Amino acid sequence: MTVNNQLADELNASLKGKSIPDQLAFIADKFENEIIFSTSFGQEDQVITDFIFRNQHAIKVFTLDTGRMFEETYKVLQKTREKYEQTIRCYFPQQSSVEQLVTKKGAYSFYSSIENRKECCHIRKVEPLQRALAGNKCWITGLRAAQSTARHDLPLFEYDPAFDIIKFNPLLEWQLSDVTDYLYKNNIPYNSLHDKGFVSIGCAPCTRAIKKGEDLRAGRWWWEDNSKKECGLHETSEMENNTNSIAKPLIK
Ligand code: ADX
Ligand code: SF4
Repeated sequence: MTVNNQLADELNASLKGKSIPDQLAFIADKFENEIIFSTSFGQEDQVITDFIFRNQHAIKVFTLDTGRMFEETYKVLQKTREKYEQTIRCYFPQQSSVEQLVTKKGAYSFYSSIENRKECCHIRKVEPLQRALAGNKCWITGLRAAQSTARHDLPLFEYDPAFDIIKFNPLLEWQLSDVTDYLYKNNIPYNSLHDKGFVSIGCAPCTRAIKKGEDLRAGRWWWEDNSKKECGLHETSEMENNTNSIAKPLIK
């Protein structure tokens, strides 16, 4: 099967408006063993994990362990494994790349420039993502339109030329309250940092809680200008256009 913009358009036309279990069943069947879901164990991802495991869809599930995750995130990983008793593949960065990076630039190089931050994201996230997605034709993510201005216009299905794959964002139209309602009603494990003001959660040194009224992704790489805020995972999908520079964090 060739994956391209045309296939994404066809999937949008035939699956928009259908229920998520129906959409997942359809694409699991269509892409057979070549379909994979990426989870960071954030709120959205826990909803999708539940849809996949509860309905036993033939969809692989993986996470990228950057080596800089919060302890709380590992706890969600563990609870999710115990609840569903299903495989969640873990991809780590290349050992030699991390060794070289930290030896040369130390443990906090990402605070000193955009280039250094992107270098760290490339080593710890993008390269492992390339390995995780290799051999797959469909990639399911927890992206939502309401997460940021950059995500407002995302389609349900899109062709991502960076990874030559069809991306499927089943929670595209969900609001944050839909996500949290689903988690509470279904008693699904979630990251305890969400109860402490953390909304979008990535690596520990690059994520903070947000204040009332702040953009949902304001806690990610908060010292950077908004136009630079992407890590390479969803680069094709995102084009931030507003600016919000603040001081670099101090390492305490
Ligand atoms: S990011 O690009 O800023 O890091 P974000 O945290 O909003 O992305 O997450 C969006 C989606 O990217 C998640 O729903 C998930 O599918 C994927 N994702 C992000 N981080 C990871 C990770 N560490 N492991 C696996 N998937 C991830
Ligand atoms: Fe490195 Fe921060 Fe990117 Fe994580 S989010 S990979 S620690 S720069």
